[in-house]
Amino acid sequence: MRLENKTAIVTGAGSGFGAGIAAKLAREGAAVIVCDVNAEDGNRVVGKITAAGGRALFDGADVTRADAVQAMVDRAVAEFGGLDILVNNAGVSHHRKPMLDVTEAELDRILAVNVKGLFHTANAAIPAMRANDQSSVIVNIASTGAVRPRPGLTWYNATKGAVTTLTKSMAIELANYRIRVNAVNPVAGDTPLLATFMGEDTPENREAFRQSVPLGRLSTPEDVASAVLYLASDEAALVTGVCLEVDGGRCI
Ligand SMILES: NC(=O)c1ccc[n+]([C@@H]2O[C@H](COP(=O)([O-])OP(=O)(O)OC[C@H]3O[C@@H](n4cnc5c(N)ncnc54)[C@H](O)[C@@H]3O)[C@@H](O)[C@H]2O)c1
Repeated sequence: MRLENKTAIVTGAGSGFGAGIAAKLAREGAAVIVCDVNAEDGNRVVGKITAAGGRALFDGADVTRADAVQAMVDRAVAEFGGLDILVNNAGVSHHRKPMLDVTEAELDRILAVNVKGLFHTANAAIPAMRANDQSSVIVNIASTGAVRPRPGLTWYNATKGAVTTLTKSMAIELANYRIRVNAVNPVAGDTPLLATFMGEDTPENREAFRQSVPLGRLSTPEDVASAVLYLASDEAALVTGVCLEVDGGRCI
């Protein structure tokens, strides 16, 4: 097992990519805090992990709330003895539409979750990671939208651009503390969020997304989780500040 004796927090782990990431990290031996605002989904993921013999706890922290995020990190330390891995996966989008139609309320929401959420998790997690004897890892789930934006998702794409810049800036600032910081840029994946990206969930729109990927398929939670596992493991001990496309060649 590649993550024995490690503790991980995965935000947005009740659904989609996050659920796949939490399950894979647990399979590799990590004790996982499954963080999600949706308690039903989060508890279902915990149930599957524990049924498979893994260790996991649900935490309902909303990543837009500093106090809730701090309490979750404190819980990880109290219950599992420290924090080694943080996966900032929780993310939301506005529906695909012209940028001038996106409301201020929609923008505020995606900035709060996709960008300010990383501010709160950083403030809570980094002191706990600095207290670690071993090196620690942060993996941010950004998007190919940060590198090769699709039209109609401009403000969402901008939040993911912020995540890739933050990844590199945090990597250089935290290197002295032996905290590695990397990102994964997935191409469109068939999760509940995909309908938002398509605007309208039709067979034609799905096909158009699929055809935009040179390897001919959308990403899966397994694809994204495998990249996160590599970046979180000691095999990536010298890898920091990298934003890894998991995109079937979409960004070439
Ligand atoms: N699906 C895609 O096509 C795609 C492509 C590229 C990047 N991404 C990114 O991958 C990440 C995961 O997306 P997904 O497709 O699995 O979406 P999803 O909607 O299936 O899962 C997101 C989860 O985050 C949770 N969440 C939302 N706001 C939260 C908050 N404030 N605090 C805690 N949890 C919260 C939701 O309840 C949900 O369970 C996101 O950051 C998304 O931007 C997705």
